[in-house]
Amino acid sequence: MKSIIITGGAGFIGSHVVRRFVNNYPDYNIINLDSLTYSGNLQNLEDLKEKINYFFEKVDITNNTEVEAIFKKYKPEGVIHLAAESHVDRSISSPMEFVYTNVIGTCNLLNACRKYWIEDKKYLFHHVSTDEVYGSLGNEGYFTEETRYDPRSPYSASKASSDHFVRAYHHTYELPVVITNCSNNYGPNHFPEKLIPLLINNILEGKKLPVYGDGKYTRDWLYVEDHASAIDTVFHNCKIGDTYNIGGFNEWKNIDLVRLLCDKMDIKLDNKPGTSQKLIEFVKDRPGHDLRYAIDANKLKKDLGWVPSLTFEEGLEKTIDWYLDNKQWLSDIVKGVYQKYYEKQYKNN
Ligand code: NAD
Ligand code: DAU
Repeated sequence: MKSIIITGGAGFIGSHVVRRFVNNYPDYNIINLDSLTYSGNLQNLEDLKEKINYFFEKVDITNNTEVEAIFKKYKPEGVIHLAAESHVDRSISSPMEFVYTNVIGTCNLLNACRKYWIEDKKYLFHHVSTDEVYGSLGNEGYFTEETRYDPRSPYSASKASSDHFVRAYHHTYELPVVITNCSNNYGPNHFPEKLIPLLINNILEGKKLPVYGDGKYTRDWLYVEDHASAIDTVFHNCKIGDTYNIGGFNEWKNIDLVRLLCDKMDIKLDNKPGTSQKLIEFVKDRPGHDLRYAIDANKLKKDLGWVPSLTFEEGLEKTIDWYLDNKQWLSDIVKGVYQKYYEKQYKNN
């Protein structure tokens, strides 16, 4: 039995990665290490409760002692590191949380790997990062693995810093690492502070749909299970020390995406065409808002044969259906912790 720690497994992407590894690799012990912050939710993994190769440990990665205890207990040969503060808007109002978790938390994990990975085995620290480390593009061009880092929000600065530490531990201590930088994910279990689930929730509640600035900001979108499959591919086949960009080959201007989602929701809800679009409201822009992200994921395609399995149409359909089938999941979150944050964030818009 090989043991693999997946950090942040109770969150959005982490839960899909945990499920994939638990189900596809019964010969691995999968340890979900998560401190259950506002975005960590064990309901996301209810279906794995009875699995004998799945373990949950409530551990804060900023706590060095707790992290070391888990390494002693499970002797992991792999770490897939997703635990993070992940929301750009929150990083603007509370940057230090991002420094503690994303930078110090990552360094604690790297130190534990250094300390416990001394036997002659094949180890790997897979650091899951973001395309935001590359900064903002104009209307042309793509981020490649060679693009210079230029983080511009406290979130992306903290992720860039963690990427640098991961590379530094590889160069200095020969720690076996790999980094993946991915574009915007969407799909089931996405916390409804992020654009797509926020829109779905607000349409269901008949609330305004806040579009920042002029809505011309552009993102590349990837279905979350395709991100999980890319992580699986990289984890098992990567060149140690390398970086791989992951993306959906799927760019959308925010306002076009919002309109498409409105139309799809109207069909699903049997609304008169145009009903949801009437809820669109242009609001105050995000400070320092990056204009455009676009990932060139051709290295991953060429070297490891990975491509997304779903089109955006298919992914969006699946996503909307999941939220309509799981309204309780959504309303539990919206009525709870998230509500307070939402009110504080948007009351001045
Ligand atoms: P998320 O906010 O949904 O989940 C984060 C998880 O980390 C939660 O379960 C939370 O409880 C846990 N966590 C936070 N702080 C912790 C701490 N100190 N100790 C232990 N656990 C802690 O985030 P997500 O959207 O699933 O993102 C996961 C990772 O993927 C992040 O590293 C993020 O930077 C990266 N990423 C996200 C996207 C995206 O579109 N969401 C795209 C590219 C990369
Ligand atoms: O690019 C990868 C990144 O994608 C990840 O690293 C982050 O963890 C993830 O949160 C996501 O960051 P974004 O800032 O791009 O995602 P968000 O859903 O917050 O916003 C998407 C776009 O929509 C962005 O241009 C801001 C805009 N937006 C967002 C919200 C929440 C709005 O116009 N209105 C909104 O209410």
